[in-house]
Amino acid sequence: NKKAIIFDLDGVIVDTAKFHFLAWQNLAKKLGIEFTTEDNEQLKGVSRVKSLEKILEWGNKEISEQEFEQLMHDKNEEYLSYVDQMTTSDILPKVKETLDYLKENNYPIALGSASKNARRILEHVDLLSYFDAIVDGNEVTKAKPNPEVFLKAAELLKAQPEHAIVFEDSLSGIEAANTAKMLSIGIGDENILKEANYVFKDFEDMGLAKFKEILNE
Ligand code: G6P
Ligand code: MG
Repeated sequence: NKKAIIFDLDGVIVDTAKFHFLAWQNLAKKLGIEFTTEDNEQLKGVSRVKSLEKILEWGNKEISEQEFEQLMHDKNEEYLSYVDQMTTSDILPKVKETLDYLKENNYPIALGSASKNARRILEHVDLLSYFDAIVDGNEVTKAKPNPEVFLKAAELLKAQPEHAIVFEDSLSGIEAANTAKMLSIGIGDENILKEANYVFKDFEDMGLAKFKEILNE
């Protein structure tokens, strides 16, 4: 039975974590809260609202609902100013080759991301046309590690979860894929992603030969 492939976006297809970091750090600075790259690590796969809630919690800060909305808006504006400068050169190594292989061999491909900016980012890096289905932060109500995002993606691809393979860079995303009974491939640090069925530093590290093996399991 043919496998369906689901990709997370941030940290798997493109390295947008550095842009999220810059925008969250500026926001934290305005609030007098310290924000490090380690803190940013904990926000991977976490929605915009949840991320701000966490930063406020870390800084022991309480703000009005109105200020919360304003900060979310400002953060996203700054983030988008970076996103809008993205080009195909921002695609992570060997991602394009992997997508090309899947496309040439008629594998159904979906995006499963918490980001509300997913389509905009895919347009900038010219990858939108590869995806048969897109499930992003505008369509899901339950954040990863809840499997909703991946289950919806598999459903749109008309694939059973057992026949789906998920690429993820966040632990919560790996947990979501595992809960959905999908095969999980972690992209990043094996110490963080140890619950994944496979972990590779990046797509180059995985290699197409290894991926073909996994596809035929
Ligand atoms: C991804 C990123 C998170 C980000 C979230 C929401 O999961 O890893 O860092 O907060 O998407 O992104 P958005 O573009 O909607 O703010
Ligand atoms: Mg991610």
